[in-house]
Amino acid sequence: MASDFGKADVPTLFEESVEGRVGVSLFEEDENTDSLLENVVPQCFRRSLPLGLPELSELQVMRHFIRLSNRTLGVDTTFYPLGSCTMKYNPKVNELTAADERFLYTHPFQPQRTLQGILKICFELCQWLGELTGLRGVSLQPAAGAHGEFTALLIAKAYFRERGESQRTQVLVPDTAHGTNPASAARCGFVPVAIKSKNGKVDLDELQRHIGEKTACLMITNPNTLGLFEDAICEISHRVHEAGGLVYLDGANFNAMVGRVRPSDFGADLMHINLHKTFSVPHGSGGPGAGPICVREELAKYLPVPILSCRDGFYYLEYDRPHSVGRVRSFLGNIPNVVRAYTYIAQLGYEGLCEVSGFAVLHANYLLHLLSSSFDVPYGARCMHEFVIDGSRQKKFGVKALDIAKKLLDYGYHPPTTYFPLIVPEALMVEPTETENKETLESFANAMIEISNIAETHPEEITDAPRTTPVSRLDELSAARNPVVVWPNV
Ligand SMILES: Cc1ncc(COP(=O)(O)O)c(C=O)c1O
Repeated sequence: MASDFGKADVPTLFEESVEGRVGVSLFEEDENTDSLLENVVPQCFRRSLPLGLPELSELQVMRHFIRLSNRTLGVDTTFYPLGSCTMKYNPKVNELTAADERFLYTHPFQPQRTLQGILKICFELCQWLGELTGLRGVSLQPAAGAHGEFTALLIAKAYFRERGESQRTQVLVPDTAHGTNPASAARCGFVPVAIKSKNGKVDLDELQRHIGEKTACLMITNPNTLGLFEDAICEISHRVHEAGGLVYLDGANFNAMVGRVRPSDFGADLMHINLHKTFSVPHGSGGPGAGPICVREELAKYLPVPILSCRDGFYYLEYDRPHSVGRVRSFLGNIPNVVRAYTYIAQLGYEGLCEVSGFAVLHANYLLHLLSSSFDVPYGARCMHEFVIDGSRQKKFGVKALDIAKKLLDYGYHPPTTYFPLIVPEALMVEPTETENKETLESFANAMIEISNIAETHPEEITDAPRTTPVSRLDELSAARNPVVVWPNV
């Protein structure tokens, strides 16, 4: 069947609508309908005007959305090396377990004795995350990495408040950090202080200049967003601890070291983990992701309620925690994602997880090696699970990192992350992940090298890319600033 990818004109559901057409029939209307409706939705809550929804058959709706999905690039259709996002393959067995009726149709308000299975899964996942990080206090509640950062910083705040150290108002954030780090710090009422890096890593002298009695936390990403392991991490943590501060590890890159390094061993006191990266939960996945936090035992009393506990083999939710920072999300978090991550870890086991981090690093290094003769490599020839190349060489011919990213769409690849981290001018941040094979890495490298060659001879073929997609260059700024989210006819 011919692909519909190249066509620009998928009509909206409103344009396809035909008056009176229905996709589902709830019940036949008769003289009882009104009293039936009255029981379900009393008159005072009913609309007085029609809803204005499009009217279509089920088949039309299905085709509409399948058509749209065919026009999107995703991990299940193509290589997706979006740096910092770990777009790896999510095994489908995770979906099977997450969709099991025994999990789907439970509710946290059921008697806890009827929830023992799912509570056991949550409890064991907490234990596994505690074991892998060395930080035994775990909450599954936060709904994303950034939400985990926010929650952990609330804990840091509660910790210092209880110690009578409210003068600790600053959070030190290296300039390689993800933008969510300073944002979370500010959101919790701290003042983020940028620490300049040197050769892509934390500059110890610069750090020392900023550490002091106002320091609440250092928020450090390791491996950092340049894909480099902060090898002075023990010394860095030592200096922060000596000054009375806490070390927060942004664990978004945990897939680079899972099974091999325990963050508590290099001084982390608190961290978040993106289940939707390291533990193969799809990004979004029917709602927000999942960003559990792990903290040292002495900080565990501040974790959000409810806490999951086990006594004599009985699992229960504990609400009576006077030191807790409160709730940050309902109950135990995003349960389908917990089940997906649990399935992934249970399938792989400890040795499998070590292979995950081993292959993540091997693949990134192989791809970096393949690209390094055609692109500038600002921070060393070796990397962890991702790397940043610089398109400055191509920019001399008028081709920017953005153009290279757009041209990759014509080759059928999702582009890498661009212009992040900010310290690399024409940054292209590539994370191949552990799930790709050698041929895919080589094909992608060939596409990148070809684009670089074309940049030198026919730059105009790249600056107006993509040419094969339904739409070419969009006005992204206007789309973000003035989104049109309402169908005009409604
Ligand atoms: C290094 C780093 N920290 C934090 C985050 C935030 O995680 P989330 O998108 O789940 O909020 C990301 C997300 O890409 C990240 O790469």
